[in-house]
Amino acid sequence: MFIGIDIGTTATKAILINETQKLLATATSTYEVSSLAPGLAEQNPSQWIGAVTQALHKLAALAPKPYGAVTRIGFSGQMHSLVALDAKLDTIRPAILWNDTRGHEECRHIATSIPEIEQLTGAVAMPSFTAAKLLWLRNHEPEHFLQLKHILLPKDYIRFWLCGELATDHSDAAGTQLYDQENRKWSTKIQDLVGCDPAVFPAIHESRSSIGTLRKNVAAELGLSPSVVVCAGGGDTPVGSIGLGCVVPGDSIVSLGTSAHLSIVTHGYQPTTGNCLHNFAHATPHQWFRMGAMLNGASCLAWAASLVGVQDISVLLTQVEARFKGPSRIMFLPYLSGERTPHNNTALRGALLGLDTATDKHDIAQAILEGVAFSLADARDALQLNLKETVPHFIGGGSRSKLWSVIVASVLNMKLALLDDGDYGPSLGAARLAMLGQGGVDSATVLSKPKINSVVEPNTDLADAYAAKHKKYRNAFSAVEEFAT
Ligand code: XUL
Repeated sequence: MFIGIDIGTTATKAILINETQKLLATATSTYEVSSLAPGLAEQNPSQWIGAVTQALHKLAALAPKPYGAVTRIGFSGQMHSLVALDAKLDTIRPAILWNDTRGHEECRHIATSIPEIEQLTGAVAMPSFTAAKLLWLRNHEPEHFLQLKHILLPKDYIRFWLCGELATDHSDAAGTQLYDQENRKWSTKIQDLVGCDPAVFPAIHESRSSIGTLRKNVAAELGLSPSVVVCAGGGDTPVGSIGLGCVVPGDSIVSLGTSAHLSIVTHGYQPTTGNCLHNFAHATPHQWFRMGAMLNGASCLAWAASLVGVQDISVLLTQVEARFKGPSRIMFLPYLSGERTPHNNTALRGALLGLDTATDKHDIAQAILEGVAFSLADARDALQLNLKETVPHFIGGGSRSKLWSVIVASVLNMKLALLDDGDYGPSLGAARLAMLGQGGVDSATVLSKPKINSVVEPNTDLADAYAAKHKKYRNAFSAVEEFAT
């Protein structure tokens, strides 16, 4: 029996599977992100410990016998977030999360000091990444920086709590901007720049590697055997791909959740320049993935729904679908939270154009579906790969809307594969990594792809109309960019 734990941004999810990957139980435990000012996002790592404890207790209650037979635990977690520990291995301050943009000035310093940063680390300097957060700590909280003896990523902190070992894996290290992608090791050049001793950085393991066994007191608290092995695990984007079996070069994913991304697996490190893409080590050795990461996905629809007092977004989507006759006359630019790919601009903000006195909430909702799809099309163009040759898995909450799926397929002018209703997220990927680490298993079987339920085809008429509207979107972007300066 295997447990997969995903330390997400708003919740921890744990799943329990058996040797044939049959799902035996799942449990989710939520928490808040603390944002004391715009652009700040923090969490206390003790919130994750509480959530993991709660989720595992739920698994135990749901499936007591298999839970008692668990042999290995794997992990996935929000990437880039900084957990800072002192010499006593206590947290120095709350974790600074991936979506916290306070380090934007520090990024300028990183970019000018290390002009080859993109080639070296797989991405341009961005405040999302850990390096900017470390430099911010040095510049703004010197008393904390002086105490800093170890850094970890969120899932590493949980593993440390479970087994007492400080460690990370290649896929999470890859997202810190402190990692030399080509040579698969910490970059001393960037460690020097942020002013950290190399001893601050944990050893990097393969995602499937065993790191230790449960500490006795924690095992007792969780009702598990102290012989349970905890594995390295990985960052949520690559481990989510493991859950989907996307490990072969060319395998691609369009994800439309709260945020959105478009990713494709590459063989070896194939860095790109100039498009704010991420080229990060995968959670399997020898593979990397190239990703356009967007901060604004279904969160934009949730924002609009809350403004107009809509409680149930699925009802709103059904109403929009019933009225749909083609592209909306309204244009939405979705940059409510700034943007990563392809703009790397934390100051960008959203816009609605073409409003008139007859505009209602349905018009605005449709414009939002389209605007988010246009930002995905920008990422498709940035990826510079012939995605037409592949049929990406289309995942995330947005893929459950028939209308949004057709809009995205038509805007991207690509077929999209919809999966059956299984649980293929990062927590499954985490459990799969735990299985792989056990050995004696066929990795192709463990990393199988889920069944495709249906394929959404682009609608030719819509694709043409949306291509024309995408041009206007790009023109409008120039004004939005100018407004942000
Ligand atoms: C990946 C990314 C997100 C976070 C939070 O680059 O920013 O996937 O890991 O989920």
